Amino acid sequence: MKNSLVIGPEALPALADFVRQRAPSRLFVLADTNTARDCYPLLAPHLPAHEQLTIAAGEEYKTLATCGQVWAWLTQHQADRHALLVCLGGGVVTDLGGFCAATYKRGVACAVLPTTLLAQVDAGVGGKTGVDFEGFKNHIGVFQEPAGVFIDPGFLATLPPAELRSGYAEIIKHALIADAAAFADLGGLDAAAVADWTPIIRHSVALKEQIVALDPHEAGPRKLLNFGHTVGHALESYLLTQAGREVRHGEAVAAGLICESWLSVQRGLLPAAELAEVQEVVGAAFGKISFITLETEAIAAYAVQDKKNRGDVINCTLLRGLGHGVFDQPITLAEVAASLQYYNSI
Ligand SMILES: NC(=O)c1ccc[n+]([C@@H]2O[C@H](COP(=O)([O-])OP(=O)(O)OC[C@H]3O[C@@H](n4cnc5c(N)ncnc54)[C@H](O)[C@@H]3O)[C@@H](O)[C@H]2O)c1
Ligand SMILES: [Zn+2]
Repeated sequence: MKNSLVIGPEALPALADFVRQRAPSRLFVLADTNTARDCYPLLAPHLPAHEQLTIAAGEEYKTLATCGQVWAWLTQHQADRHALLVCLGGGVVTDLGGFCAATYKRGVACAVLPTTLLAQVDAGVGGKTGVDFEGFKNHIGVFQEPAGVFIDPGFLATLPPAELRSGYAEIIKHALIADAAAFADLGGLDAAAVADWTPIIRHSVALKEQIVALDPHEAGPRKLLNFGHTVGHALESYLLTQAGREVRHGEAVAAGLICESWLSVQRGLLPAAELAEVQEVVGAAFGKISFITLETEAIAAYAVQDKKNRGDVINCTLLRGLGHGVFDQPITLAEVAASLQYYNSI
């Protein structure tokens, strides 16, 4: 049976129908402190009797200790294998809740209600679940598609603008690797002033779903989704070690999109004029991240540790023209550092 995916203002009524039809033995709703306050009041009227648990908000709580809280709560309320867990939140809640559901009694059904733009276009779809462990991101987890994903852009009304921008980087990424026309449409967009995200989210999710369907467990084409993330993740990890200079994932990815587009030009894969277009679209939404040239090698060193690599080779996704990603492109540490120097110079 195809899992449900509903995107738009009809998402919450659709979830209500989904719950009615599944008739779970018990219903559970997991939120974090922010989504319990801002999103749960919009959701609750659509649900029959249920239990609700609020976990602390933030990536630092995406841990096995928090999973312990969730599993204990399910146990206390006698969740059996016909229970349904609704995960209401950003990527932290959907990753962690999905993992808890996939492992509790070897698996109970889960419905995902992503409430950040990042989770609505990325974390909430594609079936990757998990938690961080001993400082390593998403170190423990499983692939497990939820029974349903219900995306209501109405939740974005309370999202801080910086969080909105963070998700927008993934929308740019999906267009760059898979749809040149969608990328061209982003040209005139002011992400801070979008009145209705529904069509943009629908299209971005469709692009991700097409790629995931080809390769659910990331043996090949799913690596396209890592575009911008080799350099972006290195920058994010490095700045995390520099007190007061931390950046959001999407901000780092936005810089990574420019760096990796520049690398694509160096390889003769991308015309220079198309790099200029990437810079224009990214630059319209994101400020520059500052670092000094002396830091580029230290930042690049983080790219070697990326879990997508094999041995010492840094495997990167590059662009063969706008809208066409190519995965498994080996690049060197020096090239990563050079791309950061380029970013610094523009
Ligand atoms: N599974 C995947 O394929 C995948 C893909 C990308 C990212 N991720 C994961 O997603 C996580 C990041 O997700 P995120 O950016 O959504 O972070 P997040 O879940 O921490 O949410 C960001 C902040 O926004 C708050 N928030 C959420 N929705 C809100 C709303 N509607 N109104 C007001 N505040 C709201 C949250 O409480 C939190 O403080 C990371 O852990 C990352 O590893 C997973
Ligand atoms: Zn990302």
